[in-house]
Amino acid sequence: MRLYWEAYSETFTIEDLIRGMYNPLRDYEDEFIDGAIVDIGCGQTTFLFDYLNTNRKLIGIDNDQFQLDQLKNRLDTFQNTSANIELLNFTLLTDALPLETYSVVFLANILHFFDFEQCRKILSQLKMNLVPGSFIYVCCHSDKYYMNDPSNPENNSYFKHYFTLADLDALFIASDFERLMYSETERLSSKKEMQTQEKWLEKHLDYLEIFDESERELIIEEHLINNPEADIIAIYRLLQQN
Ligand SMILES: C[S@@+](CC[C@H](N)C(=O)[O-])C[C@H]1O[C@@H](n2cnc3c(N)ncnc32)[C@H](O)[C@@H]1O
Repeated sequence: MRLYWEAYSETFTIEDLIRGMYNPLRDYEDEFIDGAIVDIGCGQTTFLFDYLNTNRKLIGIDNDQFQLDQLKNRLDTFQNTSANIELLNFTLLTDALPLETYSVVFLANILHFFDFEQCRKILSQLKMNLVPGSFIYVCCHSDKYYMNDPSNPENNSYFKHYFTLADLDALFIASDFERLMYSETERLSSKKEMQTQEKWLEKHLDYLEIFDESERELIIEEHLINNPEADIIAIYRLLQQN
């Protein structure tokens, strides 16, 4: 993924990322309890940008140091921010999560890298830091995602699980969590996102030392397809600890 994230940081400015952010938790901000705002699998496109002007503790967790370094560079461009922010290179399910009260947890585009049992484990780890009133935002690829083909034995080799609402509700069970919203989305990539993919393909071909122009063109034409991405987004709030 390194080459992709490199292409991504070269294409998107921090202003692009902030303007492109859709954060449905904004509707519930007045109801946030005390505690840290934590983005797990934050990458460089983190929801933490939305909370830089609050005095909350902000924690970004990712296991790719390149992504964390890019995020740090982006944050450094906010010269006036006195945000209390920690960026941690932790691997989910391998490293213990930092122990404190989490007011809000973002799980954006991360759960589909884990199978369902692993997602259950992630949630039980997380719960050690949640208190009644804590919010969890989830965005993950849905079962309508273009790559999801259950008849293919390799279906879960890259993305480990494609989610339905019932799957999410089975993780965030109704006796413990209330679901405040959910939506299913399908969208085509923007021109800028497609440019990122093209840049990434170019970098990959350089890496493979394929320099013949016509061969490069053919490979790019074959791989540069704007497939619609189908996701499911949900917000849950913890009612009680069990
Ligand atoms: C698709 S990106 C999502 C970035 C951002 N949350 C967003 O929605 O745009 C997934 C991120 O999760 C990180 N990641 C993947 N597996 C991880 C793991 N096991 N532990 C921690 N971070 C992980 C990757 O390094 C990457 O930055």
